[in-house]
Amino acid sequence: MTPLAELLASRIRRHGPLPFADFMRECLYHPLHGYYSKAESTRFADYYTSVDMHPIFGRLLARQFAEMWEHLGSPAEFMLVEAGAGVGRLAGHILDFCAAKIPAFYGALRYVAVERSAARIEQATQRLQEHGHNGHFAIAIEIPSRIPVGCLFSNELMDALPVHRVIFQEGALKEILVGLDAGQFVDVVAPVSTCAINDYFSTQSIVLSEGQHAEASLEACDWITEVGRRLERGYVLTIDYGHRAAELFDDHHTRGTLLAYYDHRVSENFYATPGEQDLTAHVNFTALELWGKRAGLDSVGLTSQTGFLLALGQRNEFADLYDDGQSETERVQARLQLKTLIHPEGMGERFQVLIQQKGAADSNLTGLPALHG
Ligand SMILES: C[S@@+](CC[C@H](N)C(=O)[O-])C[C@H]1O[C@@H](n2cnc3c(N)ncnc32)[C@H](O)[C@@H]1O
Repeated sequence: MTPLAELLASRIRRHGPLPFADFMRECLYHPLHGYYSKAESTRFADYYTSVDMHPIFGRLLARQFAEMWEHLGSPAEFMLVEAGAGVGRLAGHILDFCAAKIPAFYGALRYVAVERSAARIEQATQRLQEHGHNGHFAIAIEIPSRIPVGCLFSNELMDALPVHRVIFQEGALKEILVGLDAGQFVDVVAPVSTCAINDYFSTQSIVLSEGQHAEASLEACDWITEVGRRLERGYVLTIDYGHRAAELFDDHHTRGTLLAYYDHRVSENFYATPGEQDLTAHVNFTALELWGKRAGLDSVGLTSQTGFLLALGQRNEFADLYDDGQSETERVQARLQLKTLIHPEGMGERFQVLIQQKGAADSNLTGLPALHG
C-alpha cells in the first residue's frame, strides 16, 4: 500500500465508502502524496502532452491569442490566464515567441499562470523569471477574481478534474463509490450522493443504457461557471481530449472513459498505487458549453487540434516551426514533431479545441476555419 492508500483506507473505515471524485481528488492533488503534487520530473515516465512535442504548439496558440487581442480592440492590457500551467513550459513557449515575433502584443500581455501544485509553481517561477521581471508574467494558485479583458485557456486540465462514476442499473442512475473489502479498494454501487448527478445527465438529455458506466464531471461544470463569472470580456479556449455528450455517452463508451496511466501504459485499474499513477476521464464538451452558457459564455466553436493548428500554421506556411540558424536535420526533426501534433492518429484528432466568448464583437477566429469558410 502507498502512504496515500493507507490514508484513504482509514478514511473509508471511519466514514464509509467515498464518492470516486473524492478518491480521485486525493490521488491527484493530496498536498503531500498526490500525483500532481510531486515535482514534474517523474511525469515523463507516464505520459507526454502536446507541449512536450515542439514549441510550435505554443507559437500557434500565441498567434491565436494575438488575433483575439486585436478583435477586442487591442487593449493596453490583455490578461492571458493559463489554468493548470504545470511547470510553465507552455507559458515559456508563448512568452518567448510573443517577445520575439509579436512585440506589440507582448507589450500588452499580462500572462497569469495558475497552478495549484507548490512544486510546479517553484519550477515555473524559475523558468519564467525574466518575463516576470518585465511585468509580463505572474503566477497564482487561483484564477484571478476579475479578468477585465483577455483570454483564459487550458491544455489538458479538464481531463484531470475529479469525476463521479455512475452506472445505469434497473432503470435508475446509481453511483459507484469506493469501498474497502479485506483491505482492498472495491466498487460499491449505491444511490447517487448528490442530486447534481441527476441534473448533470437530465440537463444534457442523456439517458444511459442498462448496465452502462459513465462519469459525471461536476467539477468541470463548477469550474466553467466560475470562469464565466470572472471573465468580463474575452475568450475561453480549452484544449483536451474528449467529445460532445452525444458521442461521449454512445454505444462505443459503455464502460465510461476513466483511465489510469502509469509508465506509458493505460489501464482500468483505478485503485492501483494511489498517488503514483495519473487518472483521467474524457472531457464532455457539451457540459462545458451548457454550463458556460448559463454563466454568460457563448460557444464560438469546437474543432480538432489538427484543424486548429493547420489553420493557424498555413497562414505563413508554418514558418514559425523553425528557429534561426537551424540545420536541415533539425528542420526535418521539427517537421516530424509537427506531424505528431496534427496527425489524426497522433494527438491531432483525439484532442479538441473549444472556444467560448463573452462580449467579443468579432468571433471569426483563424483557428476555427470551418466556421467562417
Ligand atoms: C495534465 S497537467 C497539464 C499541464 C500542462 N497544462 C501541460 O499541458 O503540460 C494538469 C495540471 O493542472 C494542475 N491543476 C489541476 N487542477 C487545478 C486547479 N484547480 N487549479 C490550478 N491548477 C490545477 C495540476 O496540478 C497539473 O499541473
